[in-house]
Amino acid sequence: MTPCPHLLDRIMAVMEAAFDPAYGEAWNRRQVADALTLSSTHALVVDGEGQPIAEGNASGRAPAGFVLSRHVLDEEELLLIAVVPEARRRGIGAILIGQLFAAAGARGITRIYLEMRRGNPALGLYQRLGFEPIGERPNYYRMANGERIDAITFGRSI
Ligand SMILES: CC(C)(COP(=O)(O)OP(=O)(O)OC[C@H]1O[C@@H](n2cnc3c(N)ncnc32)[C@H](O)[C@@H]1OP(=O)(O)O)[C@@H](O)C(=O)NCCC(=O)NCCS
Repeated sequence: MTPCPHLLDRIMAVMEAAFDPAYGEAWNRRQVADALTLSSTHALVVDGEGQPIAEGNASGRAPAGFVLSRHVLDEEELLLIAVVPEARRRGIGAILIGQLFAAAGARGITRIYLEMRRGNPALGLYQRLGFEPIGERPNYYRMANGERIDAITFGRSI
């Protein structure tokens, strides 16, 4: 299925503002578009108040954050979460994850996973929301300067 262009535009607007290029974590438009063609991929976009922006609407509200996830059977992986810098630390990240829990629960998901580079300050958010570290992949990420960083995997039952 072709992804809604509004949805792609909104995700990419947040993506480009939110990720530090030094870490090479951002996805490009093609990667997001390909992911969205799969029925197992789910995207939520919110505005600066944390209110959902519905997928098909030509809304005038600027997107401030998104979460992208993919399920396999009854497990879901949080692939990416991002909030634009000017809207951070106001609870939007927590709202996005809360909405993901609700949507995933409604899909029959029982467990959510995510992977984070060691040192990402998002750790505080994940811990606060009940994610527990379950594994590490040494030197998994490669930074733009070639340096390697460990990945830490977290899980949480819902
Ligand atoms: C991670 C991210 C989505 C959090 O969004 P947010 O809207 O600021 O999240 P919330 O306001 O709900 O929670 C903020 C909490 O996250 C943690 N946190 C996130 N970024 C932080 C930072 N730069 N410095 C300190 N704490 C930070 C803290 O625990 C903070 O809680 P506090 O404000 O009470 O101290 C946002 O920082 C972001 O887009 N980062 C860049 C992209 C990224 O690294 N995504 C995660 C990997 S996919």
